[in-house]
Amino acid sequence: MKRTIFITGGAGFIGSHVVRLFVNKYPDYHIVNIDELTYAGNLENLKDIEKTPNYTFEKANIIDTKEIQRLFEKYMPDGVIHLAAESHVDRSITNPTEFIHTNIVGTVNLLNAARSIWKDNFENKRFYHISTDEVYGSLDEEGFFTEETPYDPRSPYSASKASSDLLVRAYNHTFGLPVVISNCSNNYGPNQFPEKLIPLAINNIKNMKPIPIYGKGENVRDWLYVVDHANAIDLIFHKGRNGETYNIGGNNEWQNIKLIKKLCEVMDEKLNREPGTSASLITYVKDRAGHDLRYAIDSSKLMNELGWQPSLQFEEGIVKTVDWYLTNSEWLNNIVSGEYQKYYTEMYEK
Ligand code: NAD
Ligand code: TYD
Repeated sequence: MKRTIFITGGAGFIGSHVVRLFVNKYPDYHIVNIDELTYAGNLENLKDIEKTPNYTFEKANIIDTKEIQRLFEKYMPDGVIHLAAESHVDRSITNPTEFIHTNIVGTVNLLNAARSIWKDNFENKRFYHISTDEVYGSLDEEGFFTEETPYDPRSPYSASKASSDLLVRAYNHTFGLPVVISNCSNNYGPNQFPEKLIPLAINNIKNMKPIPIYGKGENVRDWLYVVDHANAIDLIFHKGRNGETYNIGGNNEWQNIKLIKKLCEVMDEKLNREPGTSASLITYVKDRAGHDLRYAIDSSKLMNELGWQPSLQFEEGIVKTVDWYLTNSEWLNNIVSGEYQKYYTEMYEK
């Protein structure tokens, strides 16, 4: 079926994997990537598909109400997969306001624009909002987040994502807008911006710089390979039930310090270093303010209802990830030095 799908935040980490999957898997879909190219957006992530005929890039800020309305009227999309967000907890602690603008106001702008073009004819229409498990708060040693777990966000980032989730639900309830939401655990894999734990540690280990571990390193996260998240998004977009929420997780919990020690072993091997060389870089630093202790996801609804399964074990995924960063050192160097903006000018402004 010929369809036009907006993917917001498609130049970011997860968004670029979703764009690639949809562009390659659905040649009949016109995929329009809407991204402001903030510090986290990088068109180099999409070099391999940028010339594909069913792909279009539009640089736009989701906070810009008029521009978003114009783009909806120009393309008349049938579906929206909304990933654009400020996504880093530490930055939300330094500058919460930006998170309110992009994550809350930006989401409302998209909801309003979708409503305005779809009017009340919602046949084959869908607004898919991508969210995080962090909206559920923090767990002790026991238990898992289910779709029924009450929201209890504790950082400005998670509070802004929780607000946007609730607004999406409200538009479904009040206006009948066809929506679906998913809440995923921590992703890792190629193209992740080196402000997040795994790529930051890979970059530092490579350059023999200290690996900063917040607090005692005892916090636990559930890690999912990014391609498995993209596959879940594909399934939920096409088969998820209207108005529903689906949790997505890797069933793969790691204490930060254990994860970093595992990563150090892999890096020693890949860089032909003496065992223990990379681990000697581990440095405990001041804890993050309000640091959530543990996230763990129960994905049984998604598995039972839609038959989703993660395809990669962590042992395999982390080796693939390290290989990717070591092979793509130019990508990493460009980001670290801010060079990727030049790529955009070369590509679109010359
Ligand atoms: P990211 O920070 O790598 O990418 C975000 C993208 O959004 C960038 O391309 C950026 O340019 C774009 N963007 C930011 N503000 C914008 C604005 N105002 N207008 C238009 N574009 C804008 O993020 P990510 O890690 O790929 O996360 C994508 C989505 O998935 C987010 O909604 C995040 O909350 C959610 N999520 C992330 C994780 C994770 O582990 N990374 C886990 C669960 C859910
Ligand atoms: P992060 O990748 O920022 O994801 P999130 O905060 O969304 O879970 O951090 C993952 C975990 O690693 C989290 O418990 C914070 C911790 N962390 C460090 O110990 N050191 C670091 O330099 C970073 C960036 C994170």
